[in-house]
Amino acid sequence: MMNGKTTVGVIFGSRSVEHDVSIVTAQQVMRTLNPSRYDIVPIYITRDGRWLTGEPLHDIKTFQGEDVLTVKGVQETHLSSSTGHKGLMSPPLVRGFFKRQQFQKIDVIFPTVHGSHGEDGTLQGLLEMVDLPYVGTGVMASAIANNKVLTKAVLRDAGIPVVEAVAFTRHEWLQDEHRERILNEIEAMGYPAFVKPSDLGSSIGIARVDDRERALLHIDIAANFSRQVLVEKAVVGCIEINCAVMGNHEIQTSVLEQPLSAEAFLSYEEKYMRGGEGGVKQAGMKGADRIIPAPISEELTATIQDIARRGFMAIGGQGTARIDFLVKPDENEVYLNEFNTMPGSLAFYLWEATGMNGAAVCDELVRLAKERYEEKRRTTFDFKNPLIEHVARRGLSGIKK
Ligand SMILES: Nc1ncnc2c1ncn2[C@@H]1O[C@H](COP(=O)(O)OP(=O)(O)O)[C@@H](O)[C@H]1O
Ligand SMILES: [Mg+2]
Repeated sequence: MMNGKTTVGVIFGSRSVEHDVSIVTAQQVMRTLNPSRYDIVPIYITRDGRWLTGEPLHDIKTFQGEDVLTVKGVQETHLSSSTGHKGLMSPPLVRGFFKRQQFQKIDVIFPTVHGSHGEDGTLQGLLEMVDLPYVGTGVMASAIANNKVLTKAVLRDAGIPVVEAVAFTRHEWLQDEHRERILNEIEAMGYPAFVKPSDLGSSIGIARVDDRERALLHIDIAANFSRQVLVEKAVVGCIEINCAVMGNHEIQTSVLEQPLSAEAFLSYEEKYMRGGEGGVKQAGMKGADRIIPAPISEELTATIQDIARRGFMAIGGQGTARIDFLVKPDENEVYLNEFNTMPGSLAFYLWEATGMNGAAVCDELVRLAKERYEEKRRTTFDFKNPLIEHVARRGLSGIKK
């Protein structure tokens, strides 16, 4: 924290099908963080899991080429696994006779990774181990939110409305007798239905199916993407409503948006590639059409915000998330569909519409990260007891656990 600034390490990329979207979110976050308050250290994890840092990572053009590591000024690095360091260790720079170990201290990590190896609790686990404060949800909430089967179970238990579904493992699906039972259960639930891999986002592997034959085909596909699959009853005639939340204890909610789509649901291309020939011009949902605030009654708006808050608490959420709902406004039916704990562009546009600009959102997220870290320090992880002395005196044999 030299010169009173907080050093923020922005981690992005990683081994995820949403690798490219993450690069865009990271560029947005790095540009939004107030430079008078933060020193920014970009940390890019390549598609195969190597950690890189360096000035060129501030520029989206760096990522156009094949191998980012060959770009001048980019170097391999790693996060020190010792709590004694709290930062990045890079290979020593050799200048003439001198070898200088390069160490970059980090105060707060700002993960902007979407999907696997970043949004799912794995990166959060690493950061807990190295004892660094980080933005966003913790290990448990991230892991729950990234698994559609688990999300449903936790929400159902908390009395939060979710869509009915049949869930099973790939292993079950590959056995004939189970396959038959699963298809019968789906039929009993009724078509149309949505087939979803349990732990992927961005609509990848998701399909709407109207009969047994299509279900069979799309479950085979979904089972390639995840070891658990769920088939959910379609909420026919629903609209989608999203709400962002932020906080560790008192949870703020944003205004609601209604994302619009001509199709039954947004495909990956629709979501991310709109407005450009091929290139990712608009980040996250920015290019898609949406209505803000969502055109629903004040009462229904308040209900959804309340469910968003309760849902976030139910999974043990801290930090932020965008929560997506399936809603039938005329019937007053609301289902919590999913949590995005690292939403595209961090849902800046929703907070902006709520009266908070991107820089203020980043300030608050960093503050919440520090607050949670301070709270964790109040938890005791060490418990002194006389075990070692006892064993040293009596010997190892005869020790009862
Ligand atoms: N049960 C459902 N009924 C109606 N539409 C659904 C249902 N489940 C998903 N959808 C549609 O499919 C889209 C993608 O599903 P979602 O669960 O949000 O997956 P992802 O994690 O890939 O975003 C949703 O935005 C919605 O349009
Ligand atoms: Mg979704």
